Amino acid sequence: MTGAAVPREQGSPDAAPLVRLTDVGKSYGSVIALRGVSLEADAGEVTCVLGDNGAGKSTLIKIIAGLHRHDSGTYEVQGEEVAFASPRDALTRGIATVYQDLAVVPLMPVWRNFFLGSEKRKSFGRMDIDFMRRTTHSELAEMGIDLRDVDQPIGTLSGGERQCVAIARAVHFGARALILDEPTAALGVKQAGVVLRYIVQARERGLAVVFITHNPHHAYPVGDRFLILNRGRSLGYHTKEEITREELTALMAGGAELEQLAHELDAAASGGAVAKELAREAKDLGVADS
Ligand SMILES: Nc1ncnc2c1ncn2[C@@H]1O[C@H](COP(=O)(O)OP(=O)(O)OP(=O)(O)O)[C@@H](O)[C@H]1O
Ligand SMILES: [Mg+2]
Repeated sequence: MTGAAVPREQGSPDAAPLVRLTDVGKSYGSVIALRGVSLEADAGEVTCVLGDNGAGKSTLIKIIAGLHRHDSGTYEVQGEEVAFASPRDALTRGIATVYQDLAVVPLMPVWRNFFLGSEKRKSFGRMDIDFMRRTTHSELAEMGIDLRDVDQPIGTLSGGERQCVAIARAVHFGARALILDEPTAALGVKQAGVVLRYIVQARERGLAVVFITHNPHHAYPVGDRFLILNRGRSLGYHTKEEITREELTALMAGGAELEQLAHELDAAASGGAVAKELAREAKDLGVADS
């Protein structure tokens, strides 16, 4: 139950993982956002980062994405220490990040958003619209997204579909590691399921996926490794074999704190409705002793 690196099983003993953070720390002025955090992400694997609000999840991915610089520890890409000056640097090493508030232009067609900033042009400078339409359609189809019409404004797609377009786009432009910041947070059960399916697709296509989420029920089915953050520190870093869904949920939910609170309320209100509710919640989460 420490932040120690998980032993790796690999064909070649010296093959370094695509992304490796070791003992990374980051402060914003006097706020310590991260301290002594380690994680690995490798091709064909999904590494999940779980934690409550303010746990340091976004800080961690901003470091991986090249948006922020860590101030202690090391960041390696394929065994080589890196210090990215910008997300563009990270991108040239194949590390692509999909942020929760996707930078899309809602009124523009899906294909236009797919190629935004990387438009395909013909030799005389005009946009090759046909190519972009066809490519968008086939790349989405490749990931199992069957869009009726790539000319529809991206704003008409559901949140889940938009996340999927962003994932397909990163894959198309050569991402080798895909960082997803809470892609399922704002979605209902069905849409979240759609996004989780594409996370699995990306893994099957050989990408290293780092999946940030609050939700252990989203993380567990798709994850190979789980890093749980709490107030900037690692609460545990486990492979799937080492941890059950219930244990992950209890760790994540601050199960111990919830149980403590239930007991306190119980004592104060001697079995009031709120305490009962909390006790039931703790029991549902598998953290109550009764
Ligand atoms: N730019 C910043 N300047 C100052 N403090 C920051 C900055 N960014 C984050 N923090 C602080 O660092 C800590 C970790 O924040 P972070 O955004 O990484 O958490 P998080 O796990 O992503 O939370 P959430 O689930 O709410 O997105 C918090 O205490 C936050 O207030
Ligand atoms: Mg965040």
